[in-house]
Amino acid sequence: MKKPAVKSVTKPSVKGNPTLARSSEKSVKKPIVLITGGGIGIGRSTGHSFANAGYHVVVTDVLVKEGKAVVSEIIAAGGTAEFHKLNVRSTSEADSLIADIQKRFGAIDCIVANAGIAHKVPLGKLTDEKWDETFDIDLKGMIRVIRPALPAMKKRGAGAIVCISSIMGIAYGWDEHVHYSSAKAGVIGLIRGLAVELAKDGIRVNGIAPGYIRTAQLLSEKHSLGPAGADKAGEFIPMGRIGEPDEIADVVLFLASSAARYMTGQTVVVDGGLLVGRY
Ligand SMILES: NC(=O)c1ccc[n+]([C@@H]2O[C@H](COP(=O)([O-])OP(=O)(O)OC[C@H]3O[C@@H](n4cnc5c(N)ncnc54)[C@H](O)[C@@H]3O)[C@@H](O)[C@H]2O)c1
Repeated sequence: MKKPAVKSVTKPSVKGNPTLARSSEKSVKKPIVLITGGGIGIGRSTGHSFANAGYHVVVTDVLVKEGKAVVSEIIAAGGTAEFHKLNVRSTSEADSLIADIQKRFGAIDCIVANAGIAHKVPLGKLTDEKWDETFDIDLKGMIRVIRPALPAMKKRGAGAIVCISSIMGIAYGWDEHVHYSSAKAGVIGLIRGLAVELAKDGIRVNGIAPGYIRTAQLLSEKHSLGPAGADKAGEFIPMGRIGEPDEIADVVLFLASSAARYMTGQTVVVDGGLLVGRY
């Protein structure tokens, strides 16, 4: 596995893009990471971890204000980043964004397929539309972003892909979230299949199955545990608390790094001991 190639990030098109204009004031030589759902939660923290490690961070999300705020935070901390609106439900949006990034920077070094939803829907209300929406974002949304980046990664013979699954896909079933558990289990199959097909091209594909992590998703009263439930969950987690987004982000960074150069096809559980400790 080659190390991420050093990229010359010089003078990208900044017309009408003040955020990018600020980020490109200085010429930088950096590997490139693209993160989906990078405006809040785990995606936001992942952007910061990669920026701190010297990557140029391409933050994407449907949440424009939040995504731009992450870029501003990264730049204020001395890093470089740019924001692009990307709905992972759109193949054409994904194709044209990846083409634009590759045109300016060459092959992308790392893709973090993080965007996801976890809507609570009891079985009696689980329509085809609801099932399809979750699969379209949580599973198909990953291949939409990964697929157009592969030819350039293959040509260069290097690349790292990290997909975010869930303990609800690798070990637990989650009541009233059957569609979510199914899609997240699918992510583990996606990681394995891609890893085997892409290994000969120097591209590694791994994933993380987070436990309970303090983000908008978990803190939603409507769809998940809510704040009180999240704190209560700490009582049965061996490490005594739920996780923070940066505790997932740092493992994403590890999986993308040369420290994980002999790892592919794996989904790493990051859950404070929840799965091994609940009898
Ligand atoms: N928080 C947890 O406890 C937990 C546990 C296991 C897995 N996860 C997974 O981690 C990932 C990140 O979740 P989070 O906890 O940070 O939640 P979050 O709700 O804070 O963030 C989810 C992100 O995905 C984005 N997103 C949703 N639909 C999108 C779409 N169609 N196109 C592009 N972006 C879209 C959102 O805008 C948001 O930025 C998700 O895949 C989630 O399922 C979270």
